Amino acid sequence: MIYLGGDHGGWALKKVVKEHLQKQGYAVTDCGNSVFDADDNFPDFVLPVVQGVKADPANRGLLICGTGIGMSIAANHHAGIRAALATNVDYARLARQHNDANVLCLGGRFLDEASAKQMVDIFLTTAVDPNPKYQQRMHAVDGSK
Ligand code: RB5
Repeated sequence: MIYLGGDHGGWALKKVVKEHLQKQGYAVTDCGNSVFDADDNFPDFVLPVVQGVKADPANRGLLICGTGIGMSIAANHHAGIRAALATNVDYARLARQHNDANVLCLGGRFLDEASAKQMVDIFLTTAVDPNPKYQQRMHAVDGSK
């Protein structure tokens, strides 16, 4: 299950990403915002997404605000969440290969639709690099929470 969340800054891109995922057959839970509200607060949409991601190791989260920064800061407050802010496809790939990230954060005001779709696709299909050093490093990160 893919859990999706976005504030007003991510509103337009969240819709695009949601439709893109559904066309591919992914099961998507949209955690809001469900309406456009220029004064909404991005942390409100982070909590349901991280709860969904934590419910099953196979689940993933996609968080979209204006920059992706606020969403990534908020998501990384939660144990078990490795949220990566990505600005290009290489970041999205490496977030999985080296960091075993389970949440991808995107900036709706800075990404074109095609790039965002490509980043999401790569994030959802890339496995962790099997070299144990990457897992060891991320376990050390988790242990510091
Ligand atoms: C909202 O204006 C904007 O600050 C928010 O979407 C996000 O970019 C925060 O990090």
